[in-house]
Amino acid sequence: MIGIIGGSGLYNVDEINIIDEVEVRTPFGEPSDRYIVAEYNGKRAVFLPRHGKGHKFPPHLINYRANIWGFRKLGVHKILSISAVGGINPLLKPGDFVISDQFLDFTKVRPVTFYEGIYTIVDETDNRDDLVNEYMKNERVVHIDVTEPFCPIMTKTLASICEEKNFRYHQNGTYAATEGPRLETAAEIKMLSRLGADIVGMTLVPEIVLAREIAMHFSAISIVTNLAAGISKERLTSDEVIEMMTKKNKDIQQVVLDFIQKVPEHFDCNCEDVLKGAAI
Ligand code: HPA
Repeated sequence: MIGIIGGSGLYNVDEINIIDEVEVRTPFGEPSDRYIVAEYNGKRAVFLPRHGKGHKFPPHLINYRANIWGFRKLGVHKILSISAVGGINPLLKPGDFVISDQFLDFTKVRPVTFYEGIYTIVDETDNRDDLVNEYMKNERVVHIDVTEPFCPIMTKTLASICEEKNFRYHQNGTYAATEGPRLETAAEIKMLSRLGADIVGMTLVPEIVLAREIAMHFSAISIVTNLAAGISKERLTSDEVIEMMTKKNKDIQQVVLDFIQKVPEHFDCNCEDVLKGAAI
């Protein structure tokens, strides 16, 4: 099943049949909100608003582990992550979609792994016969490969949807994840630009890392809501972020619906093999 994590300003998708709202408990604490189980043209998807209803969790205090573990408990294997970002690459204009294929991690204070060796928190209710459980229950230390962190099949599906719908979009974006909640200085954006970042946001990491740690497929599409600090001539505001997400709402909903419809059932990528040989 597909899991969809919605970002700032994306709280519902019309045209979708809501089947259930489920509260999921995890040993890592509470997810951002209830998960909404929905159906579209015979396909099921589970939605979660990353910041919770009413946008109550700032990026650095989102319980990413609970959010991703909750998806596992609901049988999700593929996650589509949607988020607002600032544009760094001069090719980008506000309103553009960017599909990422790499990230740079500048986060600082977030729990970053499920595998904490002797400190690992084990979900006693999870009895799956898989490497996730084997490693967690045996308190192993795990170093997953993130050379190519995003699922190539899901990423291709996203690009073909944007192409078909004639949306302005870019592929192969490098997402720089900052800690927030403050925005960046002009010097930080200059640095990120020199390091090869195309976009900047505060939520992709550790979301993608945790999903990959439990062998899920993960892809991300971002909406450029503003030009990043120092590139924009104006003072940055949350108002412009929300305004752009609202303006793009219909297009984002279209991406989500098409994605649910088009994403293949089975993939021949390596995402599910990431745990083989990864534990010490
Ligand atoms: N910086 C960081 N996160 C963001 C931005 C930004 O400029 N815009 C939307 N999310």
